[in-house]
Amino acid sequence: MNKNKPNLVVLTGAGISAESGIATFRDSGGLWEGHKIEDVATPEAWKKNPELVLNFYNERRISVLQAKPNDAHESLVYLENYFNVQIITQNVDDLHERAGSKQVLHLHGEIRKARSTKNERLVYSIDGELLQMGQCCELGSQLRPHIVWFGEDVPLIENAAKMVSQADILLVIGTSLQVYPAAGLLHYFSAKKPLFLVDPKPQMIEKDNLKIIAKTAVVGMIELKHILKQFSHGE
Ligand code: APR
Repeated sequence: MNKNKPNLVVLTGAGISAESGIATFRDSGGLWEGHKIEDVATPEAWKKNPELVLNFYNERRISVLQAKPNDAHESLVYLENYFNVQIITQNVDDLHERAGSKQVLHLHGEIRKARSTKNERLVYSIDGELLQMGQCCELGSQLRPHIVWFGEDVPLIENAAKMVSQADILLVIGTSLQVYPAAGLLHYFSAKKPLFLVDPKPQMIEKDNLKIIAKTAVVGMIELKHILKQFSHGE
């Protein structure tokens, strides 16, 4: 970490990938690509119908592989010239990494990875688009998507909370802040430091230090890049 640059922590949600063509969750009437969340994104769903769950994530993985990072992802890479940028994303896509961001923590897992159902520390990259029944870890157990499902612990939440508590500036992009514990991360940020929210339909958070940019991620980040540079030591 470069001690001369201020810490910019960025919490991203589905909205930052919307302009890359990946659908958000709560803009689609409670259904997730035609499925109820409890049928595809819970440990119970996996027990009941693992094939359906694998197929669901295979479809999502195909659309992630077809998508490309957009200018909002690229803006966060550009900001590394001025800040120590630490991204905390709720997204399971890899668009931040493909844009070139160096420090990305995935709170809810990564769709291009699989993990053992016997030992959660055994995590593997998925070669290509599909994860299928019969594909096993080195211990011989079925691989599952490396995704944090509803009802499961969020193992990286403490790391994320520490990052937020050490931030000089916090930027929130494209999240409805409906899902905990991710939404609770805002409580770890100092009330005296600058907080920015970029979202065309922003949540009403009442904080004196908050500036809302009610625009899409791509458009909002053009404006915000200029504002943020004033907080850096570089200019
Ligand atoms: N640019 C920026 N924000 C946008 C855009 C856009 N082009 N389009 C939509 N948004 C905003 C919406 O206004 C909304 O506030 O993105 C947000 C998307 O909210 P959700 O669909 O709830 O996504 P997110 O907050 O990431 O969901 C959190 O819920 O289902 C789970 O695990 C899943 O990580 C996900 C979590």
